Amino acid sequence: MSSRISLTQYLVEQQRQNNSIPPQLRLLIEVVARACKRIAISVNKGALGDVLGSADSENVQGEVQKKLDIIANEVLIEANEWGGHLAAMGSEEMDSIHLVPNRFPQGEYLLLFDPLDGSSNIDVNVSIGTIFSVLRKVNNHRGVSEEDFLQPGKQQAAAGYCIYGPQTTLVLTVGDGVAMFTLDREMGSWVLTEDNVRIPADTKEFAINMSNLRHWAPPVKRYIDECLAGTTGPREKDFNMRWIASMVADVHRILCRGGIFMYPWDAREPQKAGKLRLMYEANPMGFIVEQAGGLATNGKQRILDITPTKLHERVAVVLGSKNEVERVTRYHLEQGD
Ligand code: AHG
Ligand code: MN
Ligand code: MN
Repeated sequence: MSSRISLTQYLVEQQRQNNSIPPQLRLLIEVVARACKRIAISVNKGALGDVLGSADSENVQGEVQKKLDIIANEVLIEANEWGGHLAAMGSEEMDSIHLVPNRFPQGEYLLLFDPLDGSSNIDVNVSIGTIFSVLRKVNNHRGVSEEDFLQPGKQQAAAGYCIYGPQTTLVLTVGDGVAMFTLDREMGSWVLTEDNVRIPADTKEFAINMSNLRHWAPPVKRYIDECLAGTTGPREKDFNMRWIASMVADVHRILCRGGIFMYPWDAREPQKAGKLRLMYEANPMGFIVEQAGGLATNGKQRILDITPTKLHERVAVVLGSKNEVERVTRYHLEQGD
């Protein structure tokens, strides 16, 4: 007898023990996990599946879409619209929300996703992922509007990501810690491989795109300068650096061994709060990181406390090991910047 615990078993046990997963939420998570398996198949086929390269289109944020951005978006919509667990979906790759068609029953949840995170890495065979966030629909009439989605991240019912890397791993929180499931390709099932994930409070590893250094605000410059000064600087230790350019991969490393990730505001496009998207990237990752004992701020404020004003809102992101995120946040607050 194998002692392996499948995703389904894990969710059923959570439902029984902690009452943290109502049946519709369990179905929703299983459907998203199944969609991620389909996306993983396309990702793995690469050039053989004609899934590499650009799609000759732009998303609402003016970014050129890759074929896989569109494929992953379609897979997630198709998988989720008929099950009766959702009222509507929002995606980084769609201008406006996607309502569940009238021919299907409407459920209690709203789903947000970044269907393919790390698009610049698709064609060079580096880890990429899918990020998702689940909110409850608060109004109880059938109609859904963008406003229903504009809830602070602390109201998320669940969040997760799937990383398509050397292994395909699903990372999940329903607000009761963080669990990791590895895809067993032969069996086609998700197997629990890490429960109660914890991020160490201290770290000697930072992740930031250093090429933007000259555009950063003083608190970010100060923090990185101090890290770079190593053993003879104020931090009195040497730091290591990693930057994968897939948020999923950088956050996954932090969940596995600690670290700090930053995509701060910078002066290239000063009117934008940051590059990353609050509802598809920062909120789900912030929820996961906090559930693993880390912190997530925009430099001044807890990410999960921010009430979004629009679906595609951008935000500065500082997340990971608690003591380092506190330090960066303190530098911002001290500077009043
Ligand atoms: P996406 O592929 O969904 O647009 O997200 C890319 C994001 C994020 O995953 C990553 O941390 C960051 O953009 C990388 O940005 P740079 O290329 O500016 O380093
Ligand atoms: Mn992304
Ligand atoms: Mn994306």
